[in-house]
Amino acid sequence: MLRTRTCGELRAPDAGSAVTLAGWVHTRRDHGNVTFIDLRDRYGITQVVAHATEQPAAHAALKDVRNEWVIQVRGSVRPRPEGTRNPKLPTGDLEVVASEVTVLNESRTPPFYVNEETSVEETLRWKYRYVDLRRERSKDLMRLRHEVVAFIREYMTTRGFWEIETTNLIRSDPTGARDLVVPSRYFPGKFWALPQSPQQLKQILMVGGIDRYFQIARCYRDEDPRADRTLEHTQLDVEMSFVEPKDVMALAEDLYTRVFERFASKPFKQVPWPRLTFEEAVRRFGTDRPDLRFGMELVDLTDVFRATSFNAFRSAIDAGGAVRAIVVPGKAEATRKEVDGWGAIVRRKGAKGLAQFAMKGSEVSSQVAKFLTAAELEALRRGTGATAGDLVLAVADTYDVASGSLGALREHLGQALGLADASAHHALWVHEFPLVQRTAEGGWTFAHNPFCGPLTDHDIALLDTAPEKARSKQYDLVVDGRELGGGSVRIHRRAMQERVFRQMGIGTEEARTRFGALLDALEYGAPPHGGIAPGIDRLVMTLAGTENIREVQAFPKTQTGYDPMLEAPAPVTDDQLQELGLRVVAPPDERR
Ligand code: AMO
Ligand code: AMP
Repeated sequence: MLRTRTCGELRAPDAGSAVTLAGWVHTRRDHGNVTFIDLRDRYGITQVVAHATEQPAAHAALKDVRNEWVIQVRGSVRPRPEGTRNPKLPTGDLEVVASEVTVLNESRTPPFYVNEETSVEETLRWKYRYVDLRRERSKDLMRLRHEVVAFIREYMTTRGFWEIETTNLIRSDPTGARDLVVPSRYFPGKFWALPQSPQQLKQILMVGGIDRYFQIARCYRDEDPRADRTLEHTQLDVEMSFVEPKDVMALAEDLYTRVFERFASKPFKQVPWPRLTFEEAVRRFGTDRPDLRFGMELVDLTDVFRATSFNAFRSAIDAGGAVRAIVVPGKAEATRKEVDGWGAIVRRKGAKGLAQFAMKGSEVSSQVAKFLTAAELEALRRGTGATAGDLVLAVADTYDVASGSLGALREHLGQALGLADASAHHALWVHEFPLVQRTAEGGWTFAHNPFCGPLTDHDIALLDTAPEKARSKQYDLVVDGRELGGGSVRIHRRAMQERVFRQMGIGTEEARTRFGALLDALEYGAPPHGGIAPGIDRLVMTLAGTENIREVQAFPKTQTGYDPMLEAPAPVTDDQLQELGLRVVAPPDERR
């Protein structure tokens, strides 16, 4: 080794010993006769000192070094003089008196400071990720991610799960997101796809009798990136045989409770976690991933306005829709700008408008008050429980649009007004999701994935009469308003699987081409099985308290899905194209 000790480990008893350290120059302070270096490696920082007359060679060698140069220091450990100790550093009682300094490598001036936690533009951080990773926060996040994954592996292994790597080159079948496809040289004109998740493969492992499987699985989805969504992510992928939903939920809840106990900075508000049906989650919070860190629940005003002469409300109700509302505490005097912003949020979710009712003393002030009777306004006040100083915001639309748009607004207000409980994490399960949902074209599609089992025999029967009412064995794990994981107990009989495919307009032939392997496997003694896949990136970001998923990934892409370090995606050579039997017809894309 080029070192005998690391920069983080020297303590008082080491005084007097001879050491060799190697690392990066964190800071350099030149006091003329004496030069001080803070030498840094992954483990910490140690002060190195050289005096012009006492250690002339080392002092001379340190003259030219600059921040981020890599050096090796031989010397002896001594206690720092009284009054110069640094209680902030674990090594702060000591310093290394350098007798010999070797420059192992120089460094250009880094594009941003490593020794200061200043905010740096993201693209620059990812382009120079090798510099960024040296920063304390970035390094801590890498360590956290490693420790969390190691903890999970240990937990799963002691409970009898086998870690099995499934192939990353599979057959394309865009379900949910677009697939990332890979051309094949052996089979020109044919393509592999990267798995959006190992869903079918893990089910097939159950048919193979593996019984309990897990994998720290890379998943690839060609969808538009967002703050908590990226092209590539990692899941703790789990599948178990002979289970019911409550068994999988119990396992995941126990694991996550322990992970949070060990790694989170604050406890769960409630254990066992509350469970909300999908119906209740949407009714109370307007979303299937409610943030329980604050209240502001949705209220229903449909009955209040059933006979109103205000046309925007009345027409929505007459068409079978609803009038729903939230109460924003103390916001009766909201500015025009705020209200316009809130209106834009509900409109983005499909609402036609946002009606406001300000509780000013005993008066209800509203731009639509003239269309409403005093009795209606009074019923609105009673129905929402709003008091003086509050603002009521209402949307009239279909039940789904009214709920979803107010749910998005509630989420925004929770953040903007700082309403969230900062003292605890709020976890919950959302379960009993719909099995299928309408497509924009009026057909049906699966609500989660096509393999989710119907909840009961009653729900199977509903597929024939009222498919939208059929519920599934899907469950989602939600923490602080973020979906951290989802799973289900699956369909394990071919006839049932084909019935569900039929609902989605997938005929026998199409099902055979798209899902042939799984369908065949279901005919060879498939056991009842189910699983879950919590997202590791989102877990680590929640534990670390960062809002940006890229911070917890070693080599992130930008918000547009470009890799500024590898400068990828990039063109390939004509030879490569030829071998693959491909010709590029799109004009070159200069976007980054
Ligand atoms: P699902 O699609 O719900 O389920 O994904 C499971 C979890 O993975 C995380 N996740 C993501 N994280 C970052 N970027 C993304 N683009 C992204 N997409 C998903 C989320 C999510 O809750 N095969 C099923 C699981 C199963 O049924 O067992 C699946 O993939 O935390
Ligand atoms: P309009 O009649 O479209 O000018 O709307 C009058 C007021 O009612 C505006 O403040 C709108 O935002 C609001 N409004 C219109 N349609 C709806 C609706 N569907 N739900 C809630 N508020 C609405």
